[in-house]
Amino acid sequence: MIKKAIIPAAGFGTRFLPATKAQPKEMLPIIDTPTIQYVVQEAVDSGIEDILIISGKGKRSIEDHFDRNFELETRLAEKEDEMLHELRRLSDMANIHFVRQKELNGLGDAIYYARHHVGNEPFAVLLGDTIMDSVIPVTQQLMDTFETYRCSVIAVETVPTDKVNRYGIVGGKELSDSIMQLETLVEKPALGQAPSNLAIAGRYILTPEIFRMIEQTPKGKGGEIQLTDAMLLLLSRENVYSHRIEGKRHDIGNKLDFLKTTVEFALKRKEFEKPFLAFLKEVIQQYEQ
Ligand code: G1P
Repeated sequence: MIKKAIIPAAGFGTRFLPATKAQPKEMLPIIDTPTIQYVVQEAVDSGIEDILIISGKGKRSIEDHFDRNFELETRLAEKEDEMLHELRRLSDMANIHFVRQKELNGLGDAIYYARHHVGNEPFAVLLGDTIMDSVIPVTQQLMDTFETYRCSVIAVETVPTDKVNRYGIVGGKELSDSIMQLETLVEKPALGQAPSNLAIAGRYILTPEIFRMIEQTPKGKGGEIQLTDAMLLLLSRENVYSHRIEGKRHDIGNKLDFLKTTVEFALKRKEFEKPFLAFLKEVIQQYEQ
């Protein structure tokens, strides 16, 4: 059973400046809920009890978000505001721990900070700026595949050929519609050089051997220690599988994706569904005139 999850959330969020100059991109809200809360919820819904968030400079508000705020709770209790229960639920969601990545040396380096906390057991990784919308939580989907193969499992999704250079791309032998036994992984390949259109989607189950591999991984794309490169090294020791996710990935660090996610999530909320849809129709009409 996988009980621990790592959420890397140390990056600068340069794609979302200036909003991320003084606040973490992981705290950007979709309606009223910070992105990272959706990510923590996915881990909890998958049966994870222990979460380590890799934070960094300027990320303190993430810690505050999952901590108790007694002053606020007292105020809400006096007013009998039902948000009180939501705030208490939030601070009791899981055992959440934090460690700070001292320098931004890449995703592989961020994961390496978790080695003492994780110990010698397989663990989940959920990127803190990526929300999944699915019936079965995506981390749970990976765990189910892990139970079959007892090896590392990487979530993937199909991307258009002209976008492969934005992702880690995997290649290998298809075992079923959704599972592939990997033969290669490349971080952000040049167009025309990708082994497939299957992109790494920000969720992983990794065996602890990955920490030894990260130690041996030289700097890669962007001069950073890439997790994708460490997983390629892992392939020479253990089998690694990819799992095509059932669900939709939302990359919140990307402005257009952020806007689309806000609209889609708003339309799913009972209180907004009708008035917001009416508003959208009005806007579209204006644009079509
Ligand atoms: C990271 C990973 C990449 C993966 C992507 C998914 O890249 O290195 O393999 O496909 O997340 O969002 P980043 O987006 O941090 O550059």
